[in-house]
Amino acid sequence: MSTLPPTPELIAVDLVDSEIILNWDNDIQQRFHGPWLRDNARGADARHPENDQRLFDITELPADLSVDSASIRDGDLHVTFRADGYETTFPADWLWRNAYDKPEAKRDIRQFWAAAEAKSLPAHDYKALTEDNAAMAAWLRQVHDYGFAIVSNVPTKPGMVCEVARLFGYVRETNYGELFEVRSEEKPTNLAFTGLGLNVHTDNPYRDPVPGLQLLHCLESVNEGGESVLMDGFKAADLLRQEDAGAFALLTRHWVPFRFRDDKADLQARRPLIEVDDRGDIQAIRYNNRSAAPFDLPADVMEAYYNAFRTYARLLHRPELELGLKLRPGDLMIFDNQRVLHGRKGFAGGKRHLQGCYADKDSLYSLMRKLEEA
Ligand SMILES: [Fe+2]
Repeated sequence: MSTLPPTPELIAVDLVDSEIILNWDNDIQQRFHGPWLRDNARGADARHPENDQRLFDITELPADLSVDSASIRDGDLHVTFRADGYETTFPADWLWRNAYDKPEAKRDIRQFWAAAEAKSLPAHDYKALTEDNAAMAAWLRQVHDYGFAIVSNVPTKPGMVCEVARLFGYVRETNYGELFEVRSEEKPTNLAFTGLGLNVHTDNPYRDPVPGLQLLHCLESVNEGGESVLMDGFKAADLLRQEDAGAFALLTRHWVPFRFRDDKADLQARRPLIEVDDRGDIQAIRYNNRSAAPFDLPADVMEAYYNAFRTYARLLHRPELELGLKLRPGDLMIFDNQRVLHGRKGFAGGKRHLQGCYADKDSLYSLMRKLEEA
């Protein structure tokens, strides 16, 4: 659980050209700019007193948002703007929490893992989750930080997978229905419905947006084979960046198409295999050999892209990254479908029956924050 450092005392303020420089009593200096301060004014004329939502649009503000004067009043920052004489006060602790002039912007705490690091993570008991907020918070926190968690002792009743999703949010219904069955079928419409092994993949890269979470609940398992495999795609992508920066650059820069088609649906999306944000942090991975459509890249990029793609795919076969799990009836795994790849080993015969559903991450993270705050 993350805790914020205490707010230092604001001891001096300087106005240099159009920048405000705050001096804190921990020897830290931070710059603030007029447009940012005005846009984030805290007063009742700027934010709704009940919900704290902004009451104006940037176009309603003067073109010149430079600061005329700045001073410390009762420990907080008081500012007057030049163009219209607008005055407002910023609580020191609010400025400290929201300051943007830092060597490194605040990042998510995410733990990249290889199999050895993930093996020791505890399973979460279903009953405890339903009765104890601390147990629930620990479960959600693990999904956030590691991208997966195992829940044990989920009643082996059909449909329970959706009940587990409803513990934190909503089931994401798709053309496969509210839940889907994973078991061997006589005339399989999908390789998932055979006894064949499945290479690690993320589900449904052809959707926009891609389902953020997948839950798989084991109702029946076979004695031999059929083990589930999870792999941290962020760890794998990060290894690719370290080992072959050129390949990483190609897979993040170029987008490729994915497609699923049957009698009723024709789902298509074009996205990168590895998605990074403006800070270079890995945000999402997509990898599904079965639904990758013919790449439509510029001709002079194609060969290099295929080399990069193969390098990455080899990495996704490294045994040390594969977390093997033997799911027993009552076990449920939940994983971030934009981060953690999943697959399974083949099985010869016998009954193996899982039920799955999708959900979104926003409500899971939201409940996690609320429980941790409480
Ligand atoms: Fe899958």
